[in-house]
Amino acid sequence: MGPERAQIPTVKLAVPTETREGESRVAMVPDSAKRLGAAGWELSVQSGAGTKAHYADAHYEATGVKLAGDLAALYQGAEVIAKVRAPTKEEAAALPEASVLVSMMQPAQALDTVGVLRDRRITSFSLDLLPRISRAQAMDALSSQATVSGYRAALVAAKSLDKFFPMFMTAAGTVPPAKVLVMGAGVAGLQAIATARRLGAQVRAYDVRAAAKEEVASLGATFVELPLDTQEGGGGYAREQSEEFLARQRELIGAEVAAADAVITTAAIPGRNAPVLVTTEMVEGMADGALIVDLAADSGGNCELTKPGETVIHRGVRVYGLSNPAASMPTHASFLYARNIANFVALLVKDGSLAPDYDDEIVSGTCVTRAGEVLHGPTADLLKEAGR
Ligand code: NAI
Repeated sequence: MGPERAQIPTVKLAVPTETREGESRVAMVPDSAKRLGAAGWELSVQSGAGTKAHYADAHYEATGVKLAGDLAALYQGAEVIAKVRAPTKEEAAALPEASVLVSMMQPAQALDTVGVLRDRRITSFSLDLLPRISRAQAMDALSSQATVSGYRAALVAAKSLDKFFPMFMTAAGTVPPAKVLVMGAGVAGLQAIATARRLGAQVRAYDVRAAAKEEVASLGATFVELPLDTQEGGGGYAREQSEEFLARQRELIGAEVAAADAVITTAAIPGRNAPVLVTTEMVEGMADGALIVDLAADSGGNCELTKPGETVIHRGVRVYGLSNPAASMPTHASFLYARNIANFVALLVKDGSLAPDYDDEIVSGTCVTRAGEVLHGPTADLLKEAGR
């Protein structure tokens, strides 16, 4: 007898159109549909869901995905729903009762939605809660989207600066390279460094984590050493810093900021407001024409003057508060996110049916609601505090 053929899953996965303002990404693309289909998933997508990311209905159909004209048709028999952003309260109310939802929820910022998911006994998983372990890298949506954001930030800086990024040696004279300072050298920061370097800028970078030094150097940038303690938290993240630490950091890095043509800030602390790294006074120390690109705009901003989605001009210095930057490059942002989703949902099936293994730390670590309860501790506490 030949080897037993592994049973392939026949679980139904549905992907609706994203509705949040400015959201152009989609949770499944034809590439990921092909992979999911080959693994036996039955797929459907809301008609037009990929349009803004340039994935046409016909391309989904060509890979065997069913098109649904509206949500009612889409959710007919759907067991797993994959999304990019957290559903709104109304969207959560329209999900099939007791279904499974996978998205990037930022649950502590989506309490209304979480309450509805809990009450409707929906099992929800939030990819932004993924543990930072090697096995989870292929599902790491925060990283894939940060890669896009970092790339975009460097391009916004290069496009907006009224100077060249590279050094130019011309018959008319030599132009020195632009000076770029990247603050926060995590996934987005490293991509911003790599992109600015490819364009020829002279790049300096700073991070509070010691491990960042080697990574910065490997990209051909100079690590800025400050006489400060490192601030390592758990899981490869920085920990939340005291106001005293941040004040000292600002004092020490002021001269670096003042010398830069472009400052790109990427410092975030998971689940908290972004630390202020650049004050108004520091902006006033920058040259006329210099600029700041702030990737932390949606969580309060690393610059005191940042306004999400806006460009603030202060004494000749432009501060770009990039809001949801990954959505500004939806084709590849969706491509990577859809791969993350396809890799993650594989953990939810066994022998052809839905059977999440809650002993797997990836499954349990990302689970927000299950069987009428909120399992994500910080979100459960916030809901309790709010009496919901
Ligand atoms: P993030 O988006 O939370 O923060 C961005 C960067 O800002 C971090 O490098 C952080 O150290 C830095 N930062 C925070 N406060 C700062 C301050 N006051 N001044 C300067 N910099 C500050 O972080 P991200 O990019 O999501 O990940 C950080 C690290 O996590 C990665 O570099 C890596 O080591 C680890 N990681 C591990 C993964 C895995 O093993 N699966 C996947 C992704 C990241």
